[in-house]
Amino acid sequence: MQPCDLAHFAPPSSRLLVQALQVDLEWRTVTEIPEHLLKRSKERRGALEGETGDAAPAAPAASAPAVAQTAKILVAPDAPPPPPKPDPAYVTAAKTRKKIPFWAMATLSLLPLWAFIYLLALQPREQTVEGPLAIGASVYGSCAGCHGAAGQGGAGRVFANGEVLKTFPKIEDMLNFVYTGSQAYVAKELAVYGNPDREGGAHAPLSYNGNPMPQQGQMLGGSLTEAEILGVVCHERYALGGADATSEEWKEEYETWCSPESEIFLALENGATTFATLDKDFTSLSKPPVFVGTEARPSAK
Ligand code: HEC
Repeated sequence: MQPCDLAHFAPPSSRLLVQALQVDLEWRTVTEIPEHLLKRSKERRGALEGETGDAAPAAPAASAPAVAQTAKILVAPDAPPPPPKPDPAYVTAAKTRKKIPFWAMATLSLLPLWAFIYLLALQPREQTVEGPLAIGASVYGSCAGCHGAAGQGGAGRVFANGEVLKTFPKIEDMLNFVYTGSQAYVAKELAVYGNPDREGGAHAPLSYNGNPMPQQGQMLGGSLTEAEILGVVCHERYALGGADATSEEWKEEYETWCSPESEIFLALENGATTFATLDKDFTSLSKPPVFVGTEARPSAK
C-alpha cells in the first residue's frame, strides 16, 4: 500500500507539517492502531500534562509532530514482538553439536606431555660408540676453553692443521705431557717437551704466553683417568689435529691406541694396565708401545 506523497503538492513553508502528518498516517496505516487506544492515550497525555502543571497548550505548529510522537510511543510497547530470526546454519550447528565431556579434559590436558615424549623419541640416539674418540670428544669440553672448540688455539696452543702432530710425532710423549702438564717439565728442568727437532721449532715449557698447560693426571692432582687422557689425546690428534686414521702414516697408531677395539684403551679402562706399565704389558703388539709414565720425562727416542 503506497500512501500518497502529499509533500509534493504542498508549498515549501508547510512541508514540515505535511511530512509530519504523513509520518503519522504511515504509522497508522502500517500498524493499524485501534481508535480506542489512540483515544485512551490522548486522555492519559492530557492527565499527565495536568499533573505536571504544564498549563501552556502545545503550539499549534508543534501539535502535528506531537501526534506523530504519540503514535510512536503507543506503537512501541503494543507492537507484537518481531518473530525471532531463525539462526543461520552455522550457529545452529554450533549450538547443537556435541560438547567435549568434562572427563575428557583430563586426557586432553596430557596431550602436550605426550607430544614432548614423542619428540624426544624422534631425536637421533646418542652415539653409543664408547671408543676413545667418543670419550675424548666429551672430555675435550674441559680443554676447549683454552684450546678452542676446533683446536684453533686461544689461551692454549693450536692443535689444528697438524700442529699438535709436529710437537708429538709419538703419541706416548703427548700422553705423558697431558698427564703431567708444563710445571712438571719446568720442575725437572727439561728444556723442551715433545719432539726436540720439531718442524718450526721445539716447544719449551711456558713458551706460549708464559702460561702453563695444567696437569690432568690424578696422581698430580688432575681429574682425568688414564683412559680419559688417552681418549682426549686421540680426539686432539684425529678429530682436531688432522691425522688421517686410514693413511699409511697413522693407520697403525690409530689401531693400536685410538680405535674402539684398541686393546690398550680397553685395558686402561678396566684397570688391567697403566701409563707406568703399558710398555711392558703390550710387548706382543705388532707395534709395541714405548714408556708413557706419569712424571715429566724427555721425549722417547
Ligand atoms: C687453562 C688453559 C688450558 C686448559 C684448560 C688446557 N690447556 Fe693445554 N695448554 C695450555 C697452554 C698455555 C699450553 C702451552 C703450554 C706451555 O707452553 O708450556 C698448552 C699446551 C697443550 C699441549 C701441547 C701442544 C703443543 O703443540 O705444544 C697439549 C697436547 C695440551 N695442551 C692438551 C690439553 C688437553 C688435552 C686439555 C684438556 C684436558 C688441555 N690442554 C687443557 C693451556 C690449557
